[in-house]
Amino acid sequence: MSFSRHIVAALFCVALLETPVCVAQDQLTPTYYDQTCPYVTHIIRKILLKAFLNDTRITASLLRLHFHDCFVQGCDGSILLDDPNTTEKVARPNANSVRGFKVIDDMKAALENVCSQTVSCADIVAIAAEQSVVLSGGPSWAVPLGRKDSRSANRSLANTVLPGFNDPLDLIKAKFAAVGLDTSLDVVALSGAHTFGRAQCLAFDQRLYNFSGVGDQDPDLNETLAARLREICPTVGLTNLTNLDQTTPDDFDNVYFNNLQVEEGLLRSNQILFSTQGADTVEIINQFSSNQTAFFEAFAESMIRMGNVRPPAAVVGEVRLNCRVINANNSITTASADARLVTSI
Ligand code: HEM
Ligand SMILES: *[C@@H]1O[C@H](CO)[C@@H](O)[C@H](O)[C@H]1NC(C)=O
Ligand SMILES: *[C@@H]1O[C@H](CO)[C@@H](O)[C@H](O)[C@H]1NC(C)=O
Ligand SMILES: *[C@@H]1O[C@H](CO)[C@@H](O)[C@H](O)[C@H]1NC(C)=O
Ligand SMILES: *[C@@H]1O[C@H](CO)[C@@H](O)[C@H](O)[C@H]1NC(C)=O
Ligand SMILES: *[C@@H]1O[C@H](CO)[C@@H](O)[C@H](O)[C@H]1NC(C)=O
Ligand SMILES: *[C@@H]1O[C@H](CO)[C@@H](O)[C@H](O)[C@H]1NC(C)=O
Ligand SMILES: *[C@@H]1O[C@H](CO)[C@@H](O)[C@H](O)[C@H]1NC(C)=O
Ligand SMILES: *[C@@H]1O[C@H](CO)[C@@H](O)[C@H](O)[C@H]1NC(C)=O
Repeated sequence: MSFSRHIVAALFCVALLETPVCVAQDQLTPTYYDQTCPYVTHIIRKILLKAFLNDTRITASLLRLHFHDCFVQGCDGSILLDDPNTTEKVARPNANSVRGFKVIDDMKAALENVCSQTVSCADIVAIAAEQSVVLSGGPSWAVPLGRKDSRSANRSLANTVLPGFNDPLDLIKAKFAAVGLDTSLDVVALSGAHTFGRAQCLAFDQRLYNFSGVGDQDPDLNETLAARLREICPTVGLTNLTNLDQTTPDDFDNVYFNNLQVEEGLLRSNQILFSTQGADTVEIINQFSSNQTAFFEAFAESMIRMGNVRPPAAVVGEVRLNCRVINANNSITTASADARLVTSI
């Protein structure tokens, strides 16, 4: 029973040619490029390092890029597409916020030089995310590979499925469940990504000035931190940046969880994981706060689960030649030549 369900899920039917064709949407595997592009991780790391020397924040930005790719119709590079009618880059959670596109372009260009038409943009983002965590002091994991890039983006979907900084806990859990992730362990572990990177004032300033619409402050925000944040964000709606982890801003560590315990989570959506009475997330936060190894292991496992969110069959897969645009029709055949054609229906 579970075997046949597995087969059904693995079939990926597309109208690629005149007759619809089913392509196996293979299981991802860390060894996917071992024969075709053995230095893929090395090449990505080299370009990441160069970018990091100029911009320490880039590691956080690339991790977030993978998250925002995977939640919207699966990890398919859809967030990288520039088509003005559909681009996810201007969706509310992404606009003037998601970054790292230029570095992904540089990685793609370097890979096209070495092993052309082989490595998908979605896989580049997945590897860049893992290497970014490692470079910042976090865990490493064997990244499952073999994703294909989508032939479409979906802005309205991006506006709906990505979690927002004011979402209540139930909604955050529902959005994780909607992509097949766990509503407690994955939510807590992956939210630990806020151990580095920045946020704009507008993502948390209502906690400082107008929490429930009566000029009040969020009772779950530490007073000392609130005072400091009011200096950085003197009025509402500013784009000034501050650190998500105010204690160790650029280190990938478990201090973010210690912060939650003293009401120093910057975003409301983070603090509620700890401050919601009776929530099943509290115990996990306490565990990660006291044991960084436990956090690192859980984070790696959750990243693999998130990286496994697959696009629906209707999203045709290819290896894009340029991460910002879908391939012209005459290059699809080449790009999908290694996609194993299993049957015609
Ligand atoms: C649980 C729901 C989540 C919410 C509501 C949320 C929301 C946000 C917001 C509002 C920002 C600041 C954006 C800005 O001000 O421009 C941010 C930054 C960030 N998020 Fe999340 N996030 C969530 C989960 C995640 C997950 C699952 C990851 C990765 C696994 C992640 C990684 C990051 C990183 C690394 C940054 C900093 C990016 C940078 O500095 O460029 N977040 N997030
Ligand atoms: C260096 O980083 C900044 C962002 O902090 C970016 O605007 C700039 O383009 C980067 N320069 C190079 C040479 O990559
Ligand atoms: C974008 O939408 C406009 C108006 O709906 C349409 O004329 C145009 O062809 C579309 N562009 C692309 C690239 O699909
Ligand atoms: C985009 O997502 C919406 C849901 O927000 C869905 O109804 C629609 O069919 C999707 N469009 C495409 C082209 O996949
Ligand atoms: C506070 O929020 C309320 C309700 O959303 C709004 O009517 C009011 O204008 C806000 N006040 C300020 C100072 O932003
Ligand atoms: C916040 O941003 C405003 C406008 O961009 C700027 O004038 C101000 O100096 C910034 N304040 C701080 C504390 O960074
Ligand atoms: C607020 O933070 C300070 C210093 O970080 C800490 O001593 C205090 O216990 C925190 N308050 C609460 C309510 O957690
Ligand atoms: C910390 O977590 C790791 C991984 O789950 C576990 O093996 C170890 O025993 C834990 N350490 C303590 C002191 O609980
Ligand atoms: C590819 O072909 C389809 C149908 O034949 C057409 O609708 C579409 O516009 C073409 N796309 C490109 C990028 O040429």
